[in-house]
Amino acid sequence: MKEKILVTGGNGFLGSHLVKELKQQGYNVRILARRKGSEDVPDGTEVIWGDIRDKAIVEKAAKDVDRVIHTVSNFRHGGSDKDEAHAINVEGTRNVICACRNNSVKQLVHCSTIGVHGSVKEIPAIEETDYNPGDLYQQTKLEAELEVREFSRESDVHVTVIRPISLIGPGDKRMLKLFSMIKKNKFIKIGPCDAYFQPAYIEDVVDGFILCLGNEKAYGEVFIIGGDEYVRLEDLFTIIADQLGVKAPSIRIPLQPVLLMASVCEAVCVPFGLEPPLHRRRVSFFQNNRAFSVDKVKKQLGYKPKVSLKESIKRTIDWYEAEGWL
Ligand SMILES: NC(=O)c1ccc[n+]([C@@H]2O[C@H](COP(=O)([O-])OP(=O)(O)OC[C@H]3O[C@@H](n4cnc5c(N)ncnc54)[C@H](OP(=O)(O)O)[C@@H]3O)[C@@H](O)[C@H]2O)c1
Repeated sequence: MKEKILVTGGNGFLGSHLVKELKQQGYNVRILARRKGSEDVPDGTEVIWGDIRDKAIVEKAAKDVDRVIHTVSNFRHGGSDKDEAHAINVEGTRNVICACRNNSVKQLVHCSTIGVHGSVKEIPAIEETDYNPGDLYQQTKLEAELEVREFSRESDVHVTVIRPISLIGPGDKRMLKLFSMIKKNKFIKIGPCDAYFQPAYIEDVVDGFILCLGNEKAYGEVFIIGGDEYVRLEDLFTIIADQLGVKAPSIRIPLQPVLLMASVCEAVCVPFGLEPPLHRRRVSFFQNNRAFSVDKVKKQLGYKPKVSLKESIKRTIDWYEAEGWL
């Protein structure tokens, strides 16, 4: 019988694609998810409803599973406060580590992020490139990754750390606003737009995660996973416009005043527990240089991204259109 895999955050964007593919490949799948609509959970999936900050729930979720893929993070909530980000990303990961140890799990595949490298200076960045987290999310993801790597050195549980590049594909609404504004010819470029962007098509990333399961060559390793093409933002906007069949955006405003406005929004909203309409992490999209090499995972595990940058944008547009959002 195939092994049982626990996917934390199994009804998130990455988590739900992982669950689908794992089930397709015959794995038994359990997810740990915060209670949402039951429509988020594929048929035949065992669900433990609960919060990653609840140690007892995480212990329960890891009982009798062979391997754990840990994807939970407070990724979507750019303006969340420091304590919440730390509790979910760092203490939540600590709960997963403890549960893996206590339940003699064979392998923990921890989902980190290329964000631990922040905006990279020399491109393409590799797994050994210096850490340079630029915001609360990236700082807490780094703290969690370091704890997982420490755990790897001192425990019998095999550990693999994956740093996905910027995910794109059906199921993600993060890029919708960008696509929709470009389509309506309302998109305004902020700053010079000369930073690099590298999309990682969701199915390729899922393949990368699954390649690591039970793979001795992945034990104790860190891999950057994603597509292998990067482009300057200016070119990305043109590619999106081409795929949408509209004119490339041409209006541009300077970066500094927008950054100032984002700081003000955060200062006003965050103390009241409100999600700021504009926050610095959103603006950082225009500033951060994201260009990475996926050579290590290709050479070591035979990973091969199948979906080109243009095709990943096209498929995402197709999905937005099918959902009636574009
Ligand atoms: N998307 C990207 O471009 C990207 C790039 C690099 C790395 N990553 C990493 O990939 C992973 C998945 O990201 P994603 O894009 O799939 O984000 P996502 O859709 O927001 O998925 C995260 C999941 O974690 C769950 N979660 C959050 N807080 C929780 C808590 N306290 N207890 C239990 N569950 C909780 C969320 O549930 P709710 O829906 O209830 O909040 C959601 O199901 C994250 O670790 C992220 O850091 C993402």
